[in-house]
Amino acid sequence: MTHTEFQRRRTFAIISHPDAGKTTLTEKLLLYGGAIHAAGAVKSRKAKRSAVSDWMALEKQRGISVTTSVLQFEYDDVRWNLLDTPGHNDFSEDTYRTLMAADCAIMILDAARGVEPQTRKLFHVCRLRNTPVVTFINKMDRPARDAFALMSEVEEVLGVSTVPFTWPIGSGDLFQGVYDRMNEVVNRFERSAEGQAKRAQVRVAGIDDAELETLLGEEAAQTLRDEVELLDGAGEKWDTARFLDGEITPVFFGSALTNFGVEPFLHSFKDLCPPPGERTASGAITVRPGDDRFSAFVFKVQANMDPAHRDRIAFARICSGKFEGGMRVHHYRLGKTVRLNRAEQFFAQERESVMEAYAGDIVGLYDPGLFRIGDTLSTDGPMSFDAVPRFSPEHFGRLQLLDPLKRKQLQKGILELSEEGTVQLFTEPGREKDPVCGVVGRLQFDVLTFRLEHEYGAKVTFDLLPYQHARWVDGAASCEELRARRIPMAVLDRDNRVVALFRDEWELGRAQRDNESWTFHETAPIVAAA
Ligand code: G4P
Repeated sequence: MTHTEFQRRRTFAIISHPDAGKTTLTEKLLLYGGAIHAAGAVKSRKAKRSAVSDWMALEKQRGISVTTSVLQFEYDDVRWNLLDTPGHNDFSEDTYRTLMAADCAIMILDAARGVEPQTRKLFHVCRLRNTPVVTFINKMDRPARDAFALMSEVEEVLGVSTVPFTWPIGSGDLFQGVYDRMNEVVNRFERSAEGQAKRAQVRVAGIDDAELETLLGEEAAQTLRDEVELLDGAGEKWDTARFLDGEITPVFFGSALTNFGVEPFLHSFKDLCPPPGERTASGAITVRPGDDRFSAFVFKVQANMDPAHRDRIAFARICSGKFEGGMRVHHYRLGKTVRLNRAEQFFAQERESVMEAYAGDIVGLYDPGLFRIGDTLSTDGPMSFDAVPRFSPEHFGRLQLLDPLKRKQLQKGILELSEEGTVQLFTEPGREKDPVCGVVGRLQFDVLTFRLEHEYGAKVTFDLLPYQHARWVDGAASCEELRARRIPMAVLDRDNRVVALFRDEWELGRAQRDNESWTFHETAPIVAAA
């Protein structure tokens, strides 16, 4: 029997730089999705500044239970799975790995700031899997940069073509709304006394309709006409296949805070965001979401979800078939069958036991210590996805143990934390006692110091190293070989693979040019033994 439930699933993530409006847009999407019912703009976000997930902050402010990692809601006959991509202080490799479980991403840009560093990194990770990206340019109610300049920046910095689906009419105090190019409709932005936008939709008979003058004023109407003409004439043409390959991004303008443009955006997003697609497993097996065979991979393991119990939840993305509570599955890395007893799904309001779920869904599996990031679970015998790689860390520090008597505790702690995916461990031949730790977000060093002391009793400190990039080197057999070729630092990863560290892109580029017989990989598979 083929399963079709997956066709109703849309599994996506939001990528943005801090302060672009991710929390605000998420909240608005949840409002439309009926998942929360609070009206009004979000008041205070101070709680968010601490090292907790954005949603936990939202939860605190709202007094509702928006439990982390994945949110589900129903809207327009679609079951949406919105994956939390931790940002701000808790930006870490988890953020990258989460993107591996998404079928589409919304990229939010602040209209006054354009493409910022964190957006660039996250976009780059989407590119690794050719994940389609839909762009929402936010804060149009405030002074914004020229819309053409924003398009050029996206194209130049991110290397993706843009196709504006809507186009702004003014910005800041002069913001009048957007022209919906696909439907030839002007969506008027009108401020209400409470600062909320009222959306008046005015259908115009194309961009040449004389109504435009009356509606927007002569100058604004003419500017809009000129700009749309330029877009129609010189702009990129829409091509769904290229969008699905991650080569073009549709662009929408709006203002999440005032609610302007959010609903039409969600409406269009429903058509743009693809349902779960095929994935490839090792041995060149093509897994289709409608297959009978159940398959899923673990992309995140979260400890201490409930501070009262030290429980762990493993988040698994279903790729095919049907999940049933209590089912028996093959655990590829352990090479044995396990029973998936307690599983939960996360509706915006609550954690609920899940009895069935389909491709595209995320289930939170109660984890008695069985699961690691990258694990594949399947029925009908063993199979393995290479779905979650290790990413190049961006900060490196040499771990120093402050109390030499605690070496055992340290080793246990650091091993467990690296298995959990909090840190990547490297060793430098000759200095095995002082491992090099790599993380994606700098704050992870503080998290590690804290957890090693409080959970394992080992007081440590990190000597920061000046490297920013790690590359797994194919073709070189040893660290000595790398050092002989002027590679600044050579280390081994947990699986004894040779890794080169570089201070900057220039050093990396030089090493690539000088050693053409080697391949420098920016990600590495998480090796999972059968
Ligand atoms: P983030 O999760 O991406 O970090 O962004 P968040 O939604 O927290 O938004 C960052 C700030 O930008 C917030 O203001 C938020 O109110 C504001 N903001 C979001 N969308 C819009 C928009 O469309 N227009 C305008 N004008 N502002 C927007 P804040 O001062 O940091 O917090 P607060 O004043 O809301 O407490």
